[in-house]
Amino acid sequence: MTKQDIHAERILVLDFGSEYTQLIARKVRSAGVYCEVHPFDLDAAAVQAFNARGVILSCDPNAEPLVADPQPDAAVYQLDVPLLSVGYAHACLPARATHIAAYDDHSSPARVEQFVLQDCACAGLWTPANIIDDAIAKVRAQVGDKQVLLGLSGGVDSSVVAALLHRAIGDQLTCVFVDHGLLRLHEGDQVMQMFARNMGVKVIRVDAEQRFLDLLKGVSDPEAKRKIIGRTFIEVFDEESAKLEGIDFLAQGTIYPDIIESVAIKHGKARVIKSHHNVGGLPEDMKFQLVEPLKELFKDEVRRLGVELGLPASMVYRHPFPGPGLGVRILGEIKKEYADLLRLADNIFIEELRGWVDEASGQNWYDKTSQAFAVFIPVKSVGVVNDERRYAWVVSLRAVETIDFMTARWAHLPYALIEKVSTRIITEIEGISRVVYDVSSKPPATIEWE
Ligand code: XMP
Repeated sequence: MTKQDIHAERILVLDFGSEYTQLIARKVRSAGVYCEVHPFDLDAAAVQAFNARGVILSCDPNAEPLVADPQPDAAVYQLDVPLLSVGYAHACLPARATHIAAYDDHSSPARVEQFVLQDCACAGLWTPANIIDDAIAKVRAQVGDKQVLLGLSGGVDSSVVAALLHRAIGDQLTCVFVDHGLLRLHEGDQVMQMFARNMGVKVIRVDAEQRFLDLLKGVSDPEAKRKIIGRTFIEVFDEESAKLEGIDFLAQGTIYPDIIESVAIKHGKARVIKSHHNVGGLPEDMKFQLVEPLKELFKDEVRRLGVELGLPASMVYRHPFPGPGLGVRILGEIKKEYADLLRLADNIFIEELRGWVDEASGQNWYDKTSQAFAVFIPVKSVGVVNDERRYAWVVSLRAVETIDFMTARWAHLPYALIEKVSTRIITEIEGISRVVYDVSSKPPATIEWE
């Protein structure tokens, strides 16, 4: 039996600069249909070549327009397919366009599902199991009997790539896991346990803690720290890969939001606030060909794939962790002593969040929050232990709720939970005498402290 082409049914999503565009695209995908996001002024040839079963115009009438009177190419109206306009208020929409207000859509995802499954008559081939089969077939066709290298960080994306490639090509995959010493408690061992021991993936672990600490000595500027960590990570990875022979391909956990052409950037309306030097970035003079099996997927799809591939949900649904790790959670200069204390405090916080269930929702507080962690503040504060004054370090707890990480509200954790975490940290960790809770929302505060 020939396999169905899971990309045959496809919806074109044209972005008029709405912050909800990706949300709409994800709803199309979760209805089981492949879609792509393109800028609203995609040219006629590309519109026709896309071969859409339906088109969605995604616009936010309350947002400032990117250009005066933005229009899609006329070719969009000549396609003989259903058209859904989300918040696009232009007067000459053809009669067959279904127009819904932006807010209707956000409160009723069912409308998008109805559009793709009924109006566009798609069968819903885009499912985790089908995506995995498709990705495996593509990887095998691309790689043949050649060897593939992957930088495994323990994050969701690279972990799912590892699991997927292992299933596709087994021993032809070698992973390099660079431990920069700024990971969370036992994280390095957990990565080895899951991939090397449980799954039988070939993983080379590089313990580079001392090298990173040496290079970071005396450096307190956050952007300088990010640059050093990012650059050193690539150097170490390069050195390790140079020791391996016969590697032709480099696998990467690039996901779809990384490559969507931003309509705001195209029209010069994007603002960059803080540079993110992601650990695991590519060396410029790369000699490998790229394998990017997740590049069509949104993060939530990557997670579903991970579960389908057998990765534990606790790993796949973990909060995001920045590439520079604890490096941006230790304010100012990084020292091993600080990292070791922070790891312990952070672990207590996460343990309690996971164990504490919110009665109203039935969810634990780890799942209720989007990101939670401890921050090391290199200031000494007094505490009294056994009748003696003890000056020790301060940590702050940070927990936020957010949809897109662009704005975030500090999480209103129960006082009793904060109290338990604070008591445990102060009594269990000798070097910490005081715990504070961060009640700053973003903006203006950022999620990380640096
Ligand atoms: P901010 O602090 O900018 O964080 O509000 C937004 C999200 O980005 C993450 N973040 C980083 N991720 N490298 C990363 O890979 C970085 O340098 C970095 N800085 C912040 C942060 O954890 C949050 O999820």
